[in-house]
Amino acid sequence: MTTAKWTADRIKALKGVGKVTCLTAGDFATAQFLDQAGLHVILVGDSLGMTSLGFSTTLPVTMEHMLHHTAAVARGVSAALVVADMPFMSYQVSVKQALTNAGRLVKESGADAVKLEGGAFRADTIRALVANGIPVLGHIGLTPQSVRQLGGFKVQGRHDEDAQRLIADAKALEQAGVFAVVIECVPKAVGQAITEAVNVPTIGIGAGPHCDGQVLVSHDLLGISPLQPKFAKRYANVGEQMLQAFRAYKDDVKAGRFPDDEHSYE
Ligand code: KIV
Repeated sequence: MTTAKWTADRIKALKGVGKVTCLTAGDFATAQFLDQAGLHVILVGDSLGMTSLGFSTTLPVTMEHMLHHTAAVARGVSAALVVADMPFMSYQVSVKQALTNAGRLVKESGADAVKLEGGAFRADTIRALVANGIPVLGHIGLTPQSVRQLGGFKVQGRHDEDAQRLIADAKALEQAGVFAVVIECVPKAVGQAITEAVNVPTIGIGAGPHCDGQVLVSHDLLGISPLQPKFAKRYANVGEQMLQAFRAYKDDVKAGRFPDDEHSYE
């Protein structure tokens, strides 16, 4: 049975109806597994700069990286909504720059929607993208592209005035036309307050159980990230299995056990 394609409008309509499920992918094989598993949204997050490309932050990620990885993911997906992150400095300079680069992610790599970071000050950019037919996923709270300004990957919204600002940001993004908003790394009470304040789904990562949906970085969930943030539950230990398989192969080759007859041609 084929599942109907998830659109931005269908995701938005899940508010109050059911939880939105989202995980990241940066390659074809992972995207196929996520799609088969029935995730609603597959995010080609710029966290791939850290998990797959070895950078210490997301700041060095380029449009070329995102186009390349998003195209691989899109080729592996038939039902999930594919959302591509707009990398640092691909949308901050001007609305025109944001339109050009979001357009490339949709046209050249097959993204269904884009995600960009920032609150109320990002509303004009989001409005222009949506008006031109590009669905937008917002992202507030800990916004990793502002790591230099934030002074590290820290929990946001701990003080009342910061929490109020985040609520105002979420409302501004809703007004600007996002179909959902990612809330990263805030106390669970703040995740709940934002979720109750807007009519679009909130998708939390380290934002508690009251959000309308959840997202994690797949590398964290699988156990193949060097760092494990507190909010990232590990569902498998794939890193350990990879290590065992690589060592077993190496030992077999060295001992002449591989290839055997089963894996050789007559
Ligand atoms: O880049 C990413 O993977 C993200 C998630 C952490 C939401 O933005």
